[in-house]
Amino acid sequence: MISQKLQDAINAQINRELYSEYLYISMQAWFASQNLDGFANWMDAQGKEERFHAMKFFNYIIERGGKVELKAIAQPTVDFQTPLNAFQASLEHEQFVTRSINDLMDIAIEEKDHASKGVLQWFVDEQVEEEASVDKIVNRLKMVGDNAHAVFMIDAELAQRVFTPPVAPA
Ligand code: FEO
Repeated sequence: MISQKLQDAINAQINRELYSEYLYISMQAWFASQNLDGFANWMDAQGKEERFHAMKFFNYIIERGGKVELKAIAQPTVDFQTPLNAFQASLEHEQFVTRSINDLMDIAIEEKDHASKGVLQWFVDEQVEEEASVDKIVNRLKMVGDNAHAVFMIDAELAQRVFTPPVAPA
């Protein structure tokens, strides 16, 4: 059985993951309004990935005989001004999520909850990838600046992203 403290902390994390989905589909809507359909596609895939993260925690609480408690999801920003601003906001958000996953891991270590440590390690590794993929796009957008042609080239590349959930979640 999972401890009440860890259950509460994971329920709070489910809310953060669902907020992440909300934030990314808000970015998707903004990019679509700018006719940057490749960027919008990337955000669509990212939103699906966040939903997957939320459900991974959701299913884990149930597996451990705990209780899932969903909370209200805050309204995300709706206006992002520029692609670079959107991706910078995304990077800051991922850094925040990484800190919250580390805090969860601290609780699992403190409680010697080895099963939770295993699940959380998956998220620790996932956050390294999440931050790296967003950081790469931030840097490329900084490099191209106001060059519309280069922004459209990035847009075409981001149009290729497809989210495929892992077959057997760890
Ligand atoms: Fe679920 Fe982007 O972290």
